[in-house]
Amino acid sequence: MNELNDIENEVRDCKKCGLWEDRNNYVFGEGDPNAEIVFVGEAPGREEDKSGKPFIGSAGKVLSETLEKAGLKREDVYITNILKCRPPNNRDPLPEEVKSCSPYLIGQIESIRPKVIVCLGKHASSFILELFGLDFSSISRDRGRVYKLSKWGLDLFVVPIYHPAATLYRVQLKESFENDIRKIAEMLTSHGNSRNTTLDQFFGD
Ligand code: URA
Ligand code: SF4
Repeated sequence: MNELNDIENEVRDCKKCGLWEDRNNYVFGEGDPNAEIVFVGEAPGREEDKSGKPFIGSAGKVLSETLEKAGLKREDVYITNILKCRPPNNRDPLPEEVKSCSPYLIGQIESIRPKVIVCLGKHASSFILELFGLDFSSISRDRGRVYKLSKWGLDLFVVPIYHPAATLYRVQLKESFENDIRKIAEMLTSHGNSRNTTLDQFFGD
């Protein structure tokens, strides 16, 4: 049995928070179930709710193009969100929604066991860092930092970066977003499958 499919079967009929009422489609996540990198966003937007796929609207376009520029293919990574259903008018996730929905994300991460978790934006960053017992201060302060953890007997790197939507009209943030993704890609390609590596050499504090 594929664990990801089992989790998706639960999400399909989920009514654990109020967001099920307005959803057209849940957005579980997509990509390689054995990916070395998992990207975690906030929640589906309009296009994602329409299609059931993560990051396919304007923020998704930025993410896909940036991955491609860095030599990463969307199908080789795994992309998902904290919430699997769209909040009305794309409002911020409520704490109780995060509490209800995040066990699905945690299940996805446990199933994939990635080498790197890239947190897109402040909501994903604060959730993931706190999940691993780390402090989150702000995205502008913490972005590009690499947190090296030990999980499943393996190294796990957690990297908060800006949300691609934040880069849409802000050139400086876009530069920083692209640089961070390029550095993550360089680390993965230059170290192949070895987990005995540190990203630290690629990132300043
Ligand atoms: N923003 C997100 O955080 N996730 C998506 O899937 C799309 C936009
Ligand atoms: Fe269930 Fe998550 Fe959708 Fe809420 S957002 S209904 S917890 S799948």
